[in-house]
Amino acid sequence: MKLIPHSKPTLSPKDIAAVSHVLKSGALAQGKKVLEFEGKVARYMGVKAGVACNSGTSALHLALLALNIGPGDEVIIPSFVCSALLNAISYTGARPLVVDVKEDDFNIAPLEVKAKLNKKVKAIIVPHMFGCPADLKELLRFGVPVIEDCAQSIGADYMGRRAGSFGALSICSFYATKVMTTGEGGMVLSNQIKILDRIRELREHNYKMTDFQAALGLSQLQKLPDFIKKRKQIARFYDRAFAESGFKIPPKDENRDPIYYRYVIKSKKRAGIVIEQLKKKGVGASLPVFKPLHHYVPGSPCPVADRLMDQCVSIPIYPDLTYGQIQQICSIKLH
Ligand SMILES: Cc1ncc(COP(=O)(O)O)c(C=O)c1O
Repeated sequence: MKLIPHSKPTLSPKDIAAVSHVLKSGALAQGKKVLEFEGKVARYMGVKAGVACNSGTSALHLALLALNIGPGDEVIIPSFVCSALLNAISYTGARPLVVDVKEDDFNIAPLEVKAKLNKKVKAIIVPHMFGCPADLKELLRFGVPVIEDCAQSIGADYMGRRAGSFGALSICSFYATKVMTTGEGGMVLSNQIKILDRIRELREHNYKMTDFQAALGLSQLQKLPDFIKKRKQIARFYDRAFAESGFKIPPKDENRDPIYYRYVIKSKKRAGIVIEQLKKKGVGASLPVFKPLHHYVPGSPCPVADRLMDQCVSIPIYPDLTYGQIQQICSIKLH
């Protein structure tokens, strides 16, 4: 049986034509297309400007450097997320403080953040996990600069405004399987032009995006509203099918308009068993994160992240899924 892949980029002949147009022009390095891409992404995200770079991890690193974070400083991050956050902090020499997340939406828990605040804390990195905005209102109240990590949430809204337009800075990732892609790529966004000028200088040292990547990004950006619409439609099918199957499905909240970068279900069985069962039925499923970050660095335990790791499974959700594949996934009964 052919396995439905867990994730997949959505590429069209138009995307390919956009890239080859730039390749044929011979202007391959960072140039006009990158500038155009920065402007259009910034407008889409509801902020003044953006600086494109070569990955989401680089974007996080640049954002931390722009806030003058270095040795002796501390940065708060959630445990239930990929190790890119830890890596970016380690490049600056600062110390990560890893805190637990909320059981219902997988996002950083404001109360856990509050418990860790001290004079050395210079930023909080807030990923909007799996495309669902975190509790920005509570987090911004602490008065510490917030870096919104929109690697998984481009296009998601919070209280009627785009997530990514609330923090001192925000970052995006355009990795191959993200909501929209440039192959590898990222961007730092902000309303503070001075901070972005600094980032533009820092980017000079090996963190640049190329014009043919930006051409792919511009082409993908045009289709982004359709990509998101399709993700939301698939999520509605899954909501029905998996709630009926006894799985816990993502919560609903009128303040958040998630884009379903991932559709994560919670089972009473162990995640590994569910992933194997899905595989036997032709569905590529995956753990939603590789390993909770509190296992990499000394610090407080994060029992919620550990429990989520035990129970949660991410199933395929991307615009290229066919109706037949969606039906195949919905028809699976694991209980
Ligand atoms: C929440 C989050 N932040 C940052 C990154 C890093 O992005 P990139 O893979 O483009 O370096 C990722 C990617 O996996 C991510 O999921």
